[in-house]
Amino acid sequence: MTSRRPVLAGNWKMNGNLQLAQELVAKFSSELDSDAVEVVLCPPAVFLANVKQLLEQNAAALAGTRIGVGGQNASALDGGAHTGEIAASMLASVGCDYVILGHSERRAMYGDTTVSVAEKFAKAIANGLIPILCVGESESERQQGNTFDVIAADLEKVVETNGKRAFDNAIIAYEPLWAIGTGNSATPEQAQEVHAFIRAHLAKISDSDANAVRILYGGSVTPDNAVELFAQADVDGGLIGGASLDADKFINLCQMA
Ligand code: G3P
Repeated sequence: MTSRRPVLAGNWKMNGNLQLAQELVAKFSSELDSDAVEVVLCPPAVFLANVKQLLEQNAAALAGTRIGVGGQNASALDGGAHTGEIAASMLASVGCDYVILGHSERRAMYGDTTVSVAEKFAKAIANGLIPILCVGESESERQQGNTFDVIAADLEKVVETNGKRAFDNAIIAYEPLWAIGTGNSATPEQAQEVHAFIRAHLAKISDSDANAVRILYGGSVTPDNAVELFAQADVDGGLIGGASLDADKFINLCQMA
């Protein structure tokens, strides 16, 4: 781990409920006592305001920690007749500081593309949100030796759309598709290799300080494999799916990050 403040983000996906939020906040209140890790809770959108409120209600017990709230997606549009969509400004208005963009599930099932994700990134930045940009290759792209190309294309489109300083206040999450929800995490070496590539490529294509950008690993992270993953030089924490739904596991991961 480096001097970059690690981030541990929990992506609940379409899971969880208010009880989970209460459990997590209660645990953070009693067991997390440091701001060494930046924690981000990304519940389904209907719970965002509740989670934010719970954090505020427990502010005294959470003093000295850094816990924020993030959306799981945002529209590339500002508003209008787009049933079911949520604008970045709306996320900001309920207290979000972050938004996950370009998750592979949204790319595979809900039409996100390299282009639309870069446009969503623009709206996030314009509304003061920190994008957590997800990138990653499929199993066949890895087998064909295209991992770096696939990731480079997403990073380049974000810079092309948002300018050379696009990553000044953004987080990247490397999530190999074959590792998501499979129990088959990337090895620490595989993760480090891609994270190092991302950092080097950012240095090449952008004017943001690549050494300051946090790059998270996501894909079957559990308390059993996290120590080694988080110990890699370019791994600055994790984007956690399944294990973020278990309060004990998630707090454990926060303490490891
Ligand atoms: O965004 C987090 C994610 O896709 C990883 O999910 O369940 O493999 O930790 P999981």
